[in-house]
Amino acid sequence: MNYMTFSLIPNPYDCQPNNRHFVYTLFMKFHRYLFLSIVACLACLSIYGAPSPDALAPNGILDLKTKSFSVGFQVGDGGRLYQHAVAAPVNPKLLRASEAYPQAGDGYVWEPAIQIIHADGNTSTDLIYQSVTRKKDEFGRELVRIRLHDPAYPVEVALCFRIDQARDVIEEWTEITHHEAAPIVLEHMASSSLLLSTNVYLTHFFGDWASEMLTPITEPLTPGTKVLDSKIGVRADQFNNPSFILSMDGVPQENSGRVLAGSLEWSGSFQFAFDNNAEGVRALCGINPFSSQYYLNPGETFVTPKMLWVWSSNGLGEMSRKLHSWARDYGMRDGYKTRQVLLNNWEATGFDFDFNRVVGLYDPAKEIGAELFLLDDGWFGNKYPRVNDHAGLGDWQPNLKRLPEGLPPLAAEAVKRGLRFGIWMEPEMVNPKSELFDEHPDWVIAQPKRELELQRNQLILDLTRPEVQAFEWQSIQNIIGISNITYAKWDCNRYITQPGSTYLPPDRQSHLWIDYVNALYALMEKTAKTFPDTELMLCSGGGGRVDYGALKYFHEFWPSDYTDPVARVPMQWDYSYFFPPMAMASHVTHWGNRPMHFACSVAMSARFGMDLDLTKLPAEDKAVCAGAISAYKRIREVTQLGDLYRLEDPHGTFRGALNYVSPDQTRAVVFVFQLNNGQNAVVRPEGLDPAKNYTIHECNPAPGRAVMTQEGKTFTGETLMRDGLLPSCSKALEASVVELGS
Ligand code: GLA
Repeated sequence: MNYMTFSLIPNPYDCQPNNRHFVYTLFMKFHRYLFLSIVACLACLSIYGAPSPDALAPNGILDLKTKSFSVGFQVGDGGRLYQHAVAAPVNPKLLRASEAYPQAGDGYVWEPAIQIIHADGNTSTDLIYQSVTRKKDEFGRELVRIRLHDPAYPVEVALCFRIDQARDVIEEWTEITHHEAAPIVLEHMASSSLLLSTNVYLTHFFGDWASEMLTPITEPLTPGTKVLDSKIGVRADQFNNPSFILSMDGVPQENSGRVLAGSLEWSGSFQFAFDNNAEGVRALCGINPFSSQYYLNPGETFVTPKMLWVWSSNGLGEMSRKLHSWARDYGMRDGYKTRQVLLNNWEATGFDFDFNRVVGLYDPAKEIGAELFLLDDGWFGNKYPRVNDHAGLGDWQPNLKRLPEGLPPLAAEAVKRGLRFGIWMEPEMVNPKSELFDEHPDWVIAQPKRELELQRNQLILDLTRPEVQAFEWQSIQNIIGISNITYAKWDCNRYITQPGSTYLPPDRQSHLWIDYVNALYALMEKTAKTFPDTELMLCSGGGGRVDYGALKYFHEFWPSDYTDPVARVPMQWDYSYFFPPMAMASHVTHWGNRPMHFACSVAMSARFGMDLDLTKLPAEDKAVCAGAISAYKRIREVTQLGDLYRLEDPHGTFRGALNYVSPDQTRAVVFVFQLNNGQNAVVRPEGLDPAKNYTIHECNPAPGRAVMTQEGKTFTGETLMRDGLLPSCSKALEASVVELGS
């Protein structure tokens, strides 16, 4: 195990670093900025008071560490804070290139973590170590704040860390405060600027609508700066994903090597700049500085989003298990509660339904064992009915032609049959063809003097405007406050292309990107708190909003509109690096017209659901679905709450395989997905208790296929992990789901 320490080693200045450096800097600036320096000095004293003895005393070592990861900090001459590169030999020389949180404008020439335009127009910032505080939160996580300040300006920056020791997780963010005479402008404000060795491989994920997370790319970070970003505002992702993996030992491996997962808890535009200069690779992560200058008023604090880091010394598998375990506690809602089987009407009916058609779907749903019915898009709008995607968004009143008595009887009919009822909504959006837009054309995000640009025929409401915030909150309450609605899908089907707000003043237009997301989180938080028993799905035209900034208010996410199971195998594999499979909605559909048994088996490996018109499904397919649901109900405790082991990577090969193991290791479930014809090779499960006995049973075997040769036999975990099991699937588009029970 790589057991490093996270230490802050002071230099001689550390007896009273503030004091000495303060005087020194004043002296240096004296000739140039006599007047400014005096003003700054007075202001500094007003915030900091008299410099206090260093909080690092008595031995000056700050030992912050997780179980197997750490980052070393050191204060150098002049009081600057440096960071020793992760996974690199300690360099005794403290160079500007290894500053902990580099500041632009006074000597640092690479990509900065922070850049400020001060009230007097000065574009430089210098940050000097001031103090450190450490305390435990109510969950036993350690909170560490390293305070830095600018000796020439009353600006304070706190580097904040929240450490989940056992899981090797560090969340990192920055808080910026000032007391200058007028607002300062934040041009760069990274959440984290971690420095690593120069030998780092980056794995990132590219995709587009209907191909989210489908293209993993692994490459060495060569000299220069590699930027991954998004500039689309209301959702983090359409192309690049806000999560990545860094490997310190070459191309990352599943069960060996030092890897670090990074994920930004932010649903807006983000930027990851991997700056490889002489001192190492610096990962600058945070809000995208593009067009996002933020005017910070005196006395206010700017808090960046949190950057999540998860370390593993034993490869990607362990990294994911730690991250999933963290997510159950902090990254999603109800992480220890199994999810129910959902039937969605989207593929069955599209926009074409009325009361009777929907109710007609309930009995077949109940018959095959579904537990929850989700009514998708198309239930609202009267003057401009939502009968296609051209009209109605914003008018959240049920369409009385289709649903004469609104939603309550629909929900009641479901509940009467023993099904829960859920509803789709897209509260942030409006169609120009809507009563809302007729009344409030100025509520949308748009650029004056430019023609409105529609995406999917819709516009985004400007959430920085208080009336819009109130409207959206009221709409959400009206929709999910209806009795018997216990599930909602929150969608967001477009992104910002014309970033103009009619609410923000002309000189604060750049705040739109950040204020929108913060207002969105306030809404999501209120929704989660007001409706604690309503399960929420996070959707954004597929997987546009899959990030831990939003997910903490939700139970699950919709990974992609692309539901072809052949694509879902690698896509769900990639999502699983960062997100627990119980949070991934995986629905059986007709996309790709794959065999029903294969489609069901793939969906069973995450949060199982269906998007099928059961009234038209052939009897054989229905029987396969019913068998899959019944098997799923038996294994979901293991697949949803157990630990994931990725066994065979499906990218570019003939099959993929994974298994789950229950926390007490008494049960496991192995999935094998045959994507192409190939040899019928054994699959070796992992994570079993070597000493325990496991009996093999194939769940819901495919009709007409020979049973597994090992069916019903019992082996020790050691034997199974060594010799493997021979799945019944061997041809393209066959799958096996095998239960190992003790
Ligand atoms: C988005 C979602 C789909 C569906 C439609 C409805 O595209 O990703 O699942 O809900 O909206 O319009």
